[in-house]
Amino acid sequence: MATHLVTGAGSGIGAVLAERLLERGEALVLLARSTERAHDLRADLPDATVLVADLADPAAVEAVAGQLPDALDSVVHAAGVVDLGPVADLTTDAWQSQLAVNLVAPAVLTRLCLPAIRAARGTVVFVNSGAGLVAHPGWSAYAASKFGLRALADSLRAEEQEHGVRVTTVYPGRTATAMQQKVHQQEGKDYDASAWIDPATVVDAILHALDLPDDATLTDLTIRPR
Ligand SMILES: NC(=O)c1ccc[n+]([C@@H]2O[C@H](COP(=O)([O-])OP(=O)(O)OC[C@H]3O[C@@H](n4cnc5c(N)ncnc54)[C@H](OP(=O)(O)O)[C@@H]3O)[C@@H](O)[C@H]2O)c1
Repeated sequence: MATHLVTGAGSGIGAVLAERLLERGEALVLLARSTERAHDLRADLPDATVLVADLADPAAVEAVAGQLPDALDSVVHAAGVVDLGPVADLTTDAWQSQLAVNLVAPAVLTRLCLPAIRAARGTVVFVNSGAGLVAHPGWSAYAASKFGLRALADSLRAEEQEHGVRVTTVYPGRTATAMQQKVHQQEGKDYDASAWIDPATVVDAILHALDLPDDATLTDLTIRPR
């Protein structure tokens, strides 16, 4: 049975992915930001193992080291945060929290999981963003975190090739989740979920990368609303 570690499984893309993997009968290790959120996740997904780590706190991420399985077929970094604003107004906290959750935590968690991923010749998936390819006005901190996430993925892919580890970056456009609702609020726009990508479609792409036969790797996948 395959074992997967998924962050951000409490909402949006990560939540749909966790449900789909459990439906397939696969083993799941999830990371919740707090004991309260871990309680919610255990109630929703009783078959999953839930660890607690606030991804905004690198020390808390380091602390999960002893609780990880010996082999991981995949690690999917789906957690993320966004806070829009012009550089003229963005606070130090807004910069630090987006860089911590969207970039530093995936790097630290990947390092901790690497022995287990190598053991299973597994796949690391980074859920990036269209903002990881182009930075628009108002998106500087989020885009910087996602540009950095792309750099992390590209270096990791080259480093880990000799260990048989696959690294995939998925770049979704606007997807109908709680995060997109917040983005609309911050942009002062009305939100219509039907205008945007269904998170299940992004999950289809992630599963396609995970299920790829052993002879190939999907390096980068861009998904845009139609
Ligand atoms: N939605 C879009 O339009 C869109 C587009 C492109 C890329 N993305 C990317 O897709 C990924 C998933 O986003 P989504 O739209 O599914 O967002 P979402 O519905 O807001 O879910 C984000 C998840 O990340 C978790 N998270 C946030 N901060 C955390 C922290 N400090 N510690 C632990 N967990 C934390 C949240 O935990 P809680 O459940 O506890 O809140 C939640 O489960 C993100 O990386 C995002 O940047 C989204």
